[in-house]
Amino acid sequence: MRTQVGIIGAGPAGLMLSHLLHLQGIESVVIESRTREEIESTIRAGVLEQGTMDLLHEVGLGRRMAAEGTLHHGFELAFNGTRHRIDLKDLTGHAISVYAQHEVIKDLVAARVAADAKIVFGVVETSLHNVDTETPSIRYQKDGEEHSVECDFVIGCDGSQGVSRQAIPENARKDYQRLYPFGWFGILVEAPPSSDELIYARHERGFALISTRSSTVQRMYFQCDPKDSVDNWSDDRIWHEMHARVDQSDGWKLTEGRIFQKNIVGMRSFVSSVMQHGRLFLAGDAAHIVPPTGAKGMNLAINDVRILADGLEQFYREGKEDFLTTYSETALKRIWRAEHFSWWMTSMLHQFQDASPFQQQMQLSELSYVTASRAAATALAENYVGKAATH
Ligand code: DHB
Repeated sequence: MRTQVGIIGAGPAGLMLSHLLHLQGIESVVIESRTREEIESTIRAGVLEQGTMDLLHEVGLGRRMAAEGTLHHGFELAFNGTRHRIDLKDLTGHAISVYAQHEVIKDLVAARVAADAKIVFGVVETSLHNVDTETPSIRYQKDGEEHSVECDFVIGCDGSQGVSRQAIPENARKDYQRLYPFGWFGILVEAPPSSDELIYARHERGFALISTRSSTVQRMYFQCDPKDSVDNWSDDRIWHEMHARVDQSDGWKLTEGRIFQKNIVGMRSFVSSVMQHGRLFLAGDAAHIVPPTGAKGMNLAINDVRILADGLEQFYREGKEDFLTTYSETALKRIWRAEHFSWWMTSMLHQFQDASPFQQQMQLSELSYVTASRAAATALAENYVGKAATH
């Protein structure tokens, strides 16, 4: 099979890229190891920055997000038993939307299928070939048969465990990594929202987050041992822990409900620099990972492919490669800003096992500053909505 752009991975990066290219009249093929049902039901974060929302609207995919997602003009930081509001709209002029990542995936898949896109699910043994020539290719097996996609470019959107990054020789890239000694225990709950806005809570027992999915389904997280098992956590134990971390001195309490999903995610920061080798380009988690605090992952993935789509359009329309050549550099500015922000939010809100009393006071003083000073609150807010400047 021959196409212009071969895309590995049908997550937000791969699907959005294929949609953006289609709108420019550029052909692509997407291959994915999971099934359509799996990608449409994998539970991930749910915060869309202003720029992500704007792009979804621009490319004709904003209808369900506007109807079923919720627009949030602020969020709360809770510490020392008190909640403090960060007014995103007032501080930055922008907002965020809470709309689950797998809903974005469903909208993207529906649009691609409606346009007769070539998406091959359930592939195995994917490998990349000749990426440092002008005729790269992707090989894979499906239902026991060998297939090959010959293309002009290969875009690796296959996540942190995918094969694409490994196709960049180790001496041509540098990896930056930080592991955190904790994870997040996530639950989905059948209940009305506990709060109109998200609450990020710092507590001596550990971090907790109150988020939402709809008027009847809520998403909550609490800091845990990344090696713990969900089987160790009965519903009663979970509620006891959540109440201890988020209930407030003014009498506000979270609303319990039936827990119907539990999962534990590890946390790390990771950046592969560079994100290009010959005709291979990496996008999204294949190139970088952020800890979940602040929910930047999907937003970064969407931003990468927006830059790539412009570069590929310039290549096919004008025969020029300037945008493609500077892809890594352009994307990495935004990525490093989000890496810093996610690390900072994580560091400010979580309990580190070996933290000294001095470090605890540093966290509290920082929280007090970002909630008391308009300048500091603006720095937090502009990063949160994805409008922080870089140069
Ligand atoms: C959610 C996840 C996050 O990491 C975050 O910072 C806010 C919300 C969520 O899943 O709703």
